[in-house]
Amino acid sequence: MHVIVTGGSSGIGLAIAKLYAIRGDRVSLLARHPGRLDEARVEIATTAGVDLSCIQIASVDVASAKQVLEAVETCERAFGPCDVLIASAGIVEPSAFDIMPAAVFDEQIATNLLGTANIVRAVYKGMKTRRSGKIMMISSGAALIGIYGYTAYCASKSALIGFAEALSAEAAIAGVRVAICFPPDTLTPQYHREMSMRPAEAELLMGTVKPWSAEAVAAKIVGGLDRGKARIHFGWSLTALAYFGPLIKPLLIWWYSRKLRKIIEQGRDGSLARSIDKGFDRG
Ligand SMILES: NC(=O)c1ccc[n+]([C@@H]2O[C@H](COP(=O)([O-])OP(=O)(O)OC[C@H]3O[C@@H](n4cnc5c(N)ncnc54)[C@H](OP(=O)(O)O)[C@@H]3O)[C@@H](O)[C@H]2O)c1
Repeated sequence: MHVIVTGGSSGIGLAIAKLYAIRGDRVSLLARHPGRLDEARVEIATTAGVDLSCIQIASVDVASAKQVLEAVETCERAFGPCDVLIASAGIVEPSAFDIMPAAVFDEQIATNLLGTANIVRAVYKGMKTRRSGKIMMISSGAALIGIYGYTAYCASKSALIGFAEALSAEAAIAGVRVAICFPPDTLTPQYHREMSMRPAEAELLMGTVKPWSAEAVAAKIVGGLDRGKARIHFGWSLTALAYFGPLIKPLLIWWYSRKLRKIIEQGRDGSLARSIDKGFDRG
């Protein structure tokens, strides 16, 4: 089996690539930085106990449809048609909307949404012709509720829900399975970078959830794909939000704004109140 993983040089994508390599599948890793791709390839081959020749890499920016198409053609020539696509390449740059440069907003949409569409487009026609194939889009728990400082990220990740649903309606009759998953906070390089930028206002809502390991998230995604699941959720709170969002969200948003107001008014937590005040000053 040939598995293509965008964002396969790091974090969740890398952990998923390892699982498939361990099973003996041929794996193609796509990401931008060649050095990190090389390191990931060696790491996977060592962990999986497989020959380096079973793992290939392609340096590509998923936001470029042309680069993606060429990379997939090259990968498929070497390892055969793509059987499984994992679209994991993604970025997050939290900051309040009014101080976020337009280019930073646009890059998150270009990578997370259009980048996913580009890689799906590159493999989908072939899968449809062969009447087989699986596509997994890595969305986020942030797709399920709007979070302070995450306008671009939430927009890009929730747009994937519509994309996956509409595409699976088209793909099902062609024998292709389209799935989507909503990982929680996960300990990866992206998470560590994000934490240094996450506004205190967002931490108030999200900080209560303990981060998962990339390995646990990867195992749930690969297991879910094996069982033919169309949606994969993590933990009871995000699962409840996914299924009962319209009921839960008004309460959650009420609780959040009440807590935020209280902290600001009473200054109960000095540091949070100060950083929240700073946030409002920026606005
Ligand atoms: N970590 C979390 O808490 C969390 C939670 C929910 C969802 N997610 C989602 O899970 C996915 C993986 O995240 P992660 O935490 O594993 O992040 P990560 O460790 O930073 O890995 C991101 C991967 O995407 C690649 N990438 C980024 N921009 C790219 C581009 N324009 N073109 C091609 N490759 C690109 C990176 O390589 P290069 O930089 O070399 O291109 C890297 O391989 C993302 O879609 C993320 O939004 C993460």
